[in-house]
Amino acid sequence: MINQTGINPERFIQDPYSFFAMARKQSPVLKTKFFQAEGWLITGFKEAEAALKDPRFIREEGNLPLEQLVVVPESVKPAIEINQSMMLFKDAPDHTRLRNLVNKAFTPRMIEKLRPTINELVDYLIVQMKGKIEHELIREFSYLLPVFVITEFIGVPKEDRELFRKWSDAFVKFIDFNTTMSDLEKIAGDIEEASNYFRSLIAKRRNEPKEDLISGLIAAEESSDQLSEMEMVATCLLLLIAGHETTVNLITNCFYLLLKNPKQYEMLTKDLSLIPSAIEETLRFESPVILTSRLAKEDFEFGGQQIKKADFIIVALGGANYDPEVTENPEQFDITRQNIKHLSFSSGPHFCLGAPLARLEGQIALEKLVTHLQNPILVEEPTLRGNIAFRGFESLKIQAEIK
Ligand code: HEM
Repeated sequence: MINQTGINPERFIQDPYSFFAMARKQSPVLKTKFFQAEGWLITGFKEAEAALKDPRFIREEGNLPLEQLVVVPESVKPAIEINQSMMLFKDAPDHTRLRNLVNKAFTPRMIEKLRPTINELVDYLIVQMKGKIEHELIREFSYLLPVFVITEFIGVPKEDRELFRKWSDAFVKFIDFNTTMSDLEKIAGDIEEASNYFRSLIAKRRNEPKEDLISGLIAAEESSDQLSEMEMVATCLLLLIAGHETTVNLITNCFYLLLKNPKQYEMLTKDLSLIPSAIEETLRFESPVILTSRLAKEDFEFGGQQIKKADFIIVALGGANYDPEVTENPEQFDITRQNIKHLSFSSGPHFCLGAPLARLEGQIALEKLVTHLQNPILVEEPTLRGNIAFRGFESLKIQAEIK
């Protein structure tokens, strides 16, 4: 899979797991060139989990030697600034401050309160699918659910939902691993456009507060000066994008895997108590996010390797999920597995804030799909989208009658 010019992107996208297995065999912490990056690729579960929890692996470039940083064109700088203001790319103490501001809204108890709304939304989407046999599951169902939920939650008006599809695609490309500087120049404008949208929405909410996250953030900003407007924009954008790019793929990937494994599909329809483990096994087997990154804050030894200050660290969450030391027969999709272990929501301080929401949406969506879709079949093999770190299909065409 590795040729003179590096990794073949098409082959990697088709099967990243055998690439990770090959790397893990050489070393679970391996020095390598990975698309546009050069650094340490971590593919062992134990090592990946330890790295994500280790404060010597950081996200902010600020404290590192400048010669390591790439020269960035002026046109890309505003988009980079927005990205760098997101909690996902911050370290303590800023990370802790930003995360604490939204954490309260995302506790499992708060999310559980959304159950009736999510149930209603899913019922509505299923009703819309009635009377037809052919369906494109992403467009008709899996994309709409997380986007409806998160836009409602943040306070984005219904009529503006569609705007975010393009902006979200741009962001994913912006942080992917095979993105070049010329790609960045092409998409930086979309990210700026999205930030401007939020700036004007925040201005509207300042005059007319509502019961939504934006109004809550404004209150925090005004009462105790806890976050800047840039951070407020970045937080809204991050949540919106997380809602667009991940849960959509969790629902779709899960349904696809079940269609490819009809015995397990049947088992699930007969025993709905398997729903939570079907979702966890999907997260392990085909996670919507398979890679993340860190920077080394100092020189130190890790996983038997000598890491140098400012080294780039690629944590293969999808590689860890297939580590045979932790998961028996990892290439087997099995919804009856006990104690499923995965790092698909990461670990440590950046552990996915939206995990309880993603799990709840995934479980409700799957239960309603297997209950209402009669004898579903796959119309054609779906095409994977061309991202390296994010995994999902372009579309999923199925045939099914809706009960
Ligand atoms: C299946 C769905 C999802 C997956 C697989 C997923 C995955 C992840 C991962 C891997 C990270 C951490 C990356 C790192 O450590 O570098 C993360 C962080 C985050 N996720 Fe999710 N996510 C999902 C859904 C959501 C949803 C629905 C939301 C909110 C609406 C959300 C909000 C966030 C936020 C705010 C962070 C940053 C947390 C921090 O930096 O402290 N995610 N997610």
